[in-house]
Amino acid sequence: MDIYNFIKSRRTIRKFKQDRLTKEQLAKYIDTARVAPSAANIQPLKYVAVVSREMTEKMFPLVKWAGYLAPMYNPKEGERPTAYVVVCADTTIRKSGYDMDIGAAVENMMLCALADNVGACWMASIDRDGIRKLLDIPETLEISCVVALGYLAETPKEAEVENGDIKYYLGESDTLYVPKRAMSEIVIKTV
Ligand SMILES: Cc1cc2nc3c(=O)[nH]c(=O)nc-3n(C[C@H](O)[C@H](O)[C@H](O)COP(=O)(O)O)c2cc1C
Repeated sequence: MDIYNFIKSRRTIRKFKQDRLTKEQLAKYIDTARVAPSAANIQPLKYVAVVSREMTEKMFPLVKWAGYLAPMYNPKEGERPTAYVVVCADTTIRKSGYDMDIGAAVENMMLCALADNVGACWMASIDRDGIRKLLDIPETLEISCVVALGYLAETPKEAEVENGDIKYYLGESDTLYVPKRAMSEIVIKTV
């Protein structure tokens, strides 16, 4: 698949096969975050890789799934992520202004994972205090978000936005459809 169609094919994954990811795989994905664009090249982001069965199970109750379809679409037993990456900002390096860095870093990780057929859910609805306690993350690291990972066990599809409704929904065979605004709506002008 060419890069254009590969990027367009990425959808958030919330159902995962139970084959385990390896430490080396997580290190590879974080390595792509490491080299992402960073404002003034300050690189304030730090990561915690969660790959053991025990810790991934403990992470599960600390993240919230698919707000528009909760709790019905929460991953069930046997569909849960097999790894997580916790994305933090080191406030001793930069106190604020790293949100765009995070976007670039997370997208790099998600696309690199997808090339291994590993799906991802970028998650900001998370219990930051619970995650800090569980993983013993120091206060100097601001917990921004989590990327849940695992081999894909669903194939959500892009849909058209109808009547301005952007909420993702379940269609035939319980396929998740994700409405995306049309080019004609988002491109204001080309000059
Ligand atoms: C900053 C950010 C935070 C998100 N947080 C969550 C979350 O907490 N839980 C969840 O299930 N999905 C979360 N998502 C995934 C979005 O729901 C998803 O990207 C959106 O519905 C579009 O679907 P797509 O990624 O398949 O294009 C988040 C996405 C972003 C960019």
